[in-house]
Amino acid sequence: MYNEKVMDHFSNPRNMGVIEDADGIGKVGNFVCGDIMWIYIKVGKNNNSEDIIEDIRFRTMGCAAAIATSSMATELAKGRTITSALKLTKQDVADSLGGLPAVKLHCSLLATDALVEAIYDYLSKTGLPVPDDVLTKHNRIKTDLEKTEKKCMNPKVQQDSSTKD
Ligand code: FES
Repeated sequence: MYNEKVMDHFSNPRNMGVIEDADGIGKVGNFVCGDIMWIYIKVGKNNNSEDIIEDIRFRTMGCAAAIATSSMATELAKGRTITSALKLTKQDVADSLGGLPAVKLHCSLLATDALVEAIYDYLSKTGLPVPDDVLTKHNRIKTDLEKTEKKCMNPKVQQDSSTKD
């Protein structure tokens, strides 16, 4: 089902863990499968005084594809400017892993969403302008996370939806 590269990132995830003094933290959830992911970023400056992702870590409570895509997304984001990191798509992550089974493509969205949330958190905390598209994504991600947490903390909802899945 998974290619060698995906299995490598699943078995030896890069950048897994927590940054205690993170500048931005993104938490996301998928309310269909119940998987949850966190991304932590430390922001620095490049030679042009642009904000860059100096360090990045993740924690994922999820499937093999969610772990592999988190690992790859952090590898792709590390060292990029904030502006460039915001352009990363779930397709970029899946392509960099040599492809994912179609039923697992949504797992890579969790990783790019967590990155957007971590950047949103950084921009809001530092009072920097939040681009409109980032705000729109943040509102969707926040709603999805609330639904995920509600489902995972409410056995009745979980039971009802599992009979539909
Ligand atoms: S099945 Fe939930 S993120 Fe993969």
